[in-house]
Amino acid sequence: MIVLGIETSCDETSAAVVRDGREVLSCVVHTQTQHRPFGGVVPEIASRCHVRLLPGIVEEAVAQSGVGWGGLDLIAATRGPGLASSLLVGWSTAKGIALRTGLPLRAVNHVEAHLHSVFLDPAAPDPREACPMVGLVVSGGHTSLFRIPSFGRLEELGRTVDDAAGEALDKAAKLLGLGYPGGPVIDRLARGRAPRARAFPEGRVREGTLTGGLDPEMCLSFSGLKTALLHRVTERPPQGEEEVAQLACDYQEAVVGALVRRCDLALRGGAKCLAAGGGVSLNSRLREALRDLCAARGVRLLLALPKHCGDNAAMIAGLAGMGRGVPSPESFGLDVAPSWPVG
Ligand code: KG4
Ligand code: ZN
Repeated sequence: MIVLGIETSCDETSAAVVRDGREVLSCVVHTQTQHRPFGGVVPEIASRCHVRLLPGIVEEAVAQSGVGWGGLDLIAATRGPGLASSLLVGWSTAKGIALRTGLPLRAVNHVEAHLHSVFLDPAAPDPREACPMVGLVVSGGHTSLFRIPSFGRLEELGRTVDDAAGEALDKAAKLLGLGYPGGPVIDRLARGRAPRARAFPEGRVREGTLTGGLDPEMCLSFSGLKTALLHRVTERPPQGEEEVAQLACDYQEAVVGALVRRCDLALRGGAKCLAAGGGVSLNSRLREALRDLCAARGVRLLLALPKHCGDNAAMIAGLAGMGRGVPSPESFGLDVAPSWPVG
């Protein structure tokens, strides 16, 4: 089963060809840099960029795969969640290609695909054998925790009630004057530093917050943390690079601590593996803390290869190649779904 996958849910334009769900034959990713001056993704700019770049990127991915158009068995694309106008570009392109080639079409969920990214590493176990599993998706747009009793069955345990972890890091970086995206800069500044104990409050969910039926203990909130940093910086602006770096380190520790504690709670339900995907799973402190947690709990940690942590089409093609997503002919009648829930 050779799948051409397309991903355009946010500010990455990507196409990839994957064999049998796991073997990446090609993966072309373009990260749009036009958003940097705005300190966040501008939807209108993102979709225009996708329109301009996607045709060439698809051609490149098919050419690099070595199988050619004739070697493809299936077309897959992200249908949601994500920015509506960006999703529309990839999803419509996928429909067009499927109609032109006569190949079947699959609609793939972006959040579920982030978890599949760990299985694009040839060293990872078979996705069916990794279950029961706990899955953490941490990116600029999503922060969710899942229990996966068997392959393809995802039960959401918790999620953020406000900002995503990546968004919390990006906003902090903006406050500290570190540019966008902030996650990688904070990661670099914090490396080799010791965080001060309890410098920032942990992202807990306030009593009475709507969690959509999820256990509040398993949910996260980063808005209080962000406000705490804002107050700190307004009351006493950091003096010099040293103080900025220490604040970044303390803040990152609070984000990582909140994530790791929810993972720990989730693992108590019993699991063979813990999988983490999404741009924030690149964070070196988070990787280290998850490694320690899994070692202590006797659970295997599955992390995506760095090139597959951020948004990419290989995770889309891979998941579709494992039989997940909405198949044809139903898929042809579907529109994009900006808030498409997993499951
Ligand atoms: O998965 P992704 O590429 O796009 C979304 O689906 O959102 O994630 C992007 C997010 C950004 O918030 C970025 O700051 C964060 O991932 N990020 C990091 C690191 N690299 C990227 N956060 C912390 N540490 C990193 N090394
Ligand atoms: Zn993503």
